[in-house]
Amino acid sequence: MRIHARLMSRDRVTRRFGALTALNDVTLDILPDEILGIAGPNGAGRSTLLNVCTGALAATSGRVLVGGRNVAGLRLHAFCRLGVARTFQIPQVFSSMSVRENVSTGARFRLVGKGGGGGAEAAADAALKATGLALQAGQPASTADLLTRKRIMLAAAIATRPQLLFMDEPLGGLNADEVAGFAGLIRRLQATLRITFVVLEHKIRALSQLSNRILILHFGAVLALDAPAKVLASERVIEISLGRRNLA
Ligand SMILES: Nc1ncnc2c1ncn2[C@@H]1O[C@H](COP(=O)(O)OP(=O)(O)OP(=O)(O)O)[C@@H](O)[C@H]1O
Ligand SMILES: [Mg+2]
Repeated sequence: MRIHARLMSRDRVTRRFGALTALNDVTLDILPDEILGIAGPNGAGRSTLLNVCTGALAATSGRVLVGGRNVAGLRLHAFCRLGVARTFQIPQVFSSMSVRENVSTGARFRLVGKGGGGGAEAAADAALKATGLALQAGQPASTADLLTRKRIMLAAAIATRPQLLFMDEPLGGLNADEVAGFAGLIRRLQATLRITFVVLEHKIRALSQLSNRILILHFGAVLALDAPAKVLASERVIEISLGRRNLA
């Protein structure tokens, strides 16, 4: 599997868990400045792909390259310094901290092992502004609703100044208006900060409106990778992967 240019490239990545092959010989280029949507049925291997790309899991075989560098064995803060960040399906927010302190934590993570915190507060300020959280910066994170917790987690990731940001089910649990608003925020961040997004999502309609390309994983392999309209029109994708109900 190959990840491209200054971003990521992976060469035929396989990840096994015992006898189970969760990712099967996947080759993928993630292109600069795109929003790549990843969908597929439960257990298709999406989270495994994300974990292999962001350093939480090692590939059983194959290579993951970020900007041409093989990332095998790198620690998490090294991924961060390479410009790779992620958000989680269930928002990971420090409840005992304010919104601002949460975002600053992201900014400082990039500086782990570097000594000194130069630039961290400015990065936090910029991330708060970019995600529309500036007015809530002093509030406790403990009282934040789901959408605000998602914004805080996104802001903390943005504060690490990523080139490539993976989001695991960012739209889950949101109502239709919130989905439109949060997807719009992701699009604006992509356009203004020139971050490449990889978005794992069950909500395929919203994902297809958000993404430049859609990848469908099925039993750990690439079933389709194309423009959203083409992927959604594919009979094979409809029948095998998504089911007609999910496209309704
Ligand atoms: N740590 C693990 N140990 C054993 N099996 C695992 C592990 N992690 C994932 N798997 C298995 O690998 C396959 C792919 O899992 P993965 O979590 O990547 O799928 P997914 O597409 O994210 O699915 P979903 O999020 O809908 O559950 C599944 O069969 C899962 O049970
Ligand atoms: Mg998953």
